[in-house]
Amino acid sequence: MKIIVKKGMLADAESQAIILALFEDSKKLTGVALEIDKISGGLISDLIGSGDFAGKPSQISVVYTRGAMPAKRLALVGLGKHQECNLEKIRGAYASVMRHLRGLGVKEAATAINVNLLPGKKEQTAQAVAEGALLGLYQYTPYKTVGREDLKEMDELTVIADVKDFSVIESNVKKARLIADAVCFVRDLISAPSNEMTPTILAQKAGELTDRKNVSCRVLDKSKLKEMGMNALLAVASGSHEEPKLIVLEYAGGKKKDAPIVLVGKGLTFDSGGISIKPAEKMDEMKTDMSGGAAVIGAIRAAADLQLPLNITGLIPATENLPGGSAYKPGDIIKSYSGKTIEVLNTDAEGRLILADALAYASEFKPEAVIDLATLTGACIIALGDDVIGLLGTDDKLKKEINSAAQTTGELVWELPLWEQYHEQIKSDIADYKNTGGRPAGTITAAAFLSKFVGDHPWVHLDIAGPAWTTKDKPYIPKGAAGVGVRLLVEFLTHRAKK
Ligand code: BES
Ligand code: MN
Ligand code: ZN
Repeated sequence: MKIIVKKGMLADAESQAIILALFEDSKKLTGVALEIDKISGGLISDLIGSGDFAGKPSQISVVYTRGAMPAKRLALVGLGKHQECNLEKIRGAYASVMRHLRGLGVKEAATAINVNLLPGKKEQTAQAVAEGALLGLYQYTPYKTVGREDLKEMDELTVIADVKDFSVIESNVKKARLIADAVCFVRDLISAPSNEMTPTILAQKAGELTDRKNVSCRVLDKSKLKEMGMNALLAVASGSHEEPKLIVLEYAGGKKKDAPIVLVGKGLTFDSGGISIKPAEKMDEMKTDMSGGAAVIGAIRAAADLQLPLNITGLIPATENLPGGSAYKPGDIIKSYSGKTIEVLNTDAEGRLILADALAYASEFKPEAVIDLATLTGACIIALGDDVIGLLGTDDKLKKEINSAAQTTGELVWELPLWEQYHEQIKSDIADYKNTGGRPAGTITAAAFLSKFVGDHPWVHLDIAGPAWTTKDKPYIPKGAAGVGVRLLVEFLTHRAKK
């Protein structure tokens, strides 16, 4: 959908629908709402007065203007109580109303953004409106061939701004556009089935970003990985005919001498569990086991589009985990890229193996900080539920930065401890470490394992197993791939860039 920002008055818009977002407890109408109410002979006050529209979060009322205004319809959407309003409610409201209008067959709409909904958050408010609309309208349709003509799409949203707010709205709508495009790109990568999203194809998709300024991509193939001794990644890949790749995607927007921020993303294009095979039920969802890697690719795309003055390196180890004849097996011992040895007790704990090699490799970039994202453990879903990212790491300042970025983007992040005791669980009898620590604290022992391969720099691990994929519609995340982590990383990076 195109978004156009224009100067003018919403009441004058010749649109299929004009959208107004209203609080639940506003005693009397003000601003644009008051103006439209007057012009329309009390259309809005009637809806409110009769109780049809109360302004509850994401509540929607659509009525015909019947000539009272140039626009054909008036769409009201609720923001909930003024005191309880936040960026999430704004994103949700715009996502809901846009989806509702699309369902009616409306292809084009107009709205005005009140940048004073939240005190001191003009920029974020403008961004949230556009983000909510764009992310809420996402649909993944490339494989639908029957009834394609019935697919509905919204073509255009016009944001009408008055002169004093025009520039803040214009620049933040543009920012939202770039970020939402990156999120939707990531959702596409994740939604694609594993037969059409192999490590090779994922690497190709990353490579396509090099048409952007300051972006470069190197793909380390199987023979190179062998030469380097990336044996943990190679072990996971050994059961599949698909070649593994280590994708190195770099954005050089900073000064030459600036140390890079390294983002590492788990890129399992399919995780069957390998010899320790998973149950059939829901195994299909394991096409999403590259969500961390996809988020890293998306964050770098957005950073490049926003031209952030930073150096960022993305490392995405990509492979399948299959139980082929040459697959690695429980009991195998691997000498990882770091030189440390790993006893494989469960081939389904493969994410930490490929990350071990990538995290060790990250140190060679002398990073300012390393952040990894991975759909790493089912245990994270047991601990925190479907909607929450588990955060673990070694550096309080970096953890704080991630937490504060999450406050802005609405991605839910909760820290788990990484105490000494947990490290006992991953000691091996005959190698340095084993790749599982048993059922207790599975998310933590996985992170403890990763920590063994992290160099002497700030590091944070984000376990996105829960929110990467959603089986029910959320306000601005239609069911399916969420693209979680992209906005979080971009917000974090934007803050770093301001320093
Ligand atoms: N990719 C899975 C984790 C996962 C499970 C993500 C469900 C999203 C939804 C990971 O590779 C895995 O299989 N982990 C095992 C580890 C265990 C064998 C120690 C798990 O969580 O069961
Ligand atoms: Mn697994
Ligand atoms: Zn996995």
